Amino acid sequence: MKKPSEKKMLPPRLPKSAIPHHVALVMDGNGRWAKQRGLPRTKGHEAGEAALFDVVEGALLIGVKELSAYAFSTENWRRSPDEVKFLMGFNREVIRRRRDQMNEMGVRIRWVGRPQKLWKSVMNELLEAEELTKRNKKLTLNMCVNYGGRAEIADAAALLAQDVAKKRIKPDQINEKLFSKYLDEPTMSDVDLFLRSSGEQRTSNFLLWQSAYAEMVFMDVLWPDVTRETLWKAIEIYAGRERRFGKA
Ligand code: IPE
Ligand code: IPE
Ligand code: MG
Repeated sequence: MKKPSEKKMLPPRLPKSAIPHHVALVMDGNGRWAKQRGLPRTKGHEAGEAALFDVVEGALLIGVKELSAYAFSTENWRRSPDEVKFLMGFNREVIRRRRDQMNEMGVRIRWVGRPQKLWKSVMNELLEAEELTKRNKKLTLNMCVNYGGRAEIADAAALLAQDVAKKRIKPDQINEKLFSKYLDEPTMSDVDLFLRSSGEQRTSNFLLWQSAYAEMVFMDVLWPDVTRETLWKAIEIYAGRERRFGKA
């Protein structure tokens, strides 16, 4: 007989077709979590680390193949210099601290975002983790650091324009499929489930192109309180949705 606590840790039984392939996570609510406890905002970010890696384990257990975590947006540079500095250093340390564990679990880490303004030391850490884990196949974890959906689309347009100017591509060849090859991570699959914590109901510029037909699920829980069970609950909600993709 399993103890109830162990039993609770099993993912819900759902048909394979009801499991999202790609889940996007907007990890929101760290500041409010800290404020509720009379702590500085940075303590909320620290508490959010365990939530992310519990969700990664939950994703592996239920069979999600791709997870994109919004860690720092192109708009987050607008925060106080102290918080920006903390978040840069913190992202670097989290990647360093977790990469071997992720590697052992068969997780492939990829960095998605733009290099402009990003601390070199953070980028180097991300690139090292990518290199270390590049052969892993169980789950891909896209760490979206200095990521913005509009920036990604504008950058893609600029690259594409260069290829047109160099006559490598004719304007009439441009379609959705070709355009998507110019995005930050061309092999990223479309988002099936877009999950945001903290109760806010907006995308905040996350994976705009890739989420065109994502199912949106907003959970009323602050990110540091999120666990694998929050993911599983969101997947049950997702499984109950009817996805039509424009068809009647
Ligand atoms: C999300 O939590 C973490 C990042 C954006 C880096 P917030 O810091 O946005 O927390 P709230 O929204 O202020 O509670
Ligand atoms: C989105 O959260 C960005 C990340 C989670 C990294 P924000 O807290 O920055 O979003 P807004 O400002 O509430 O829209
Ligand atoms: Mg927020």
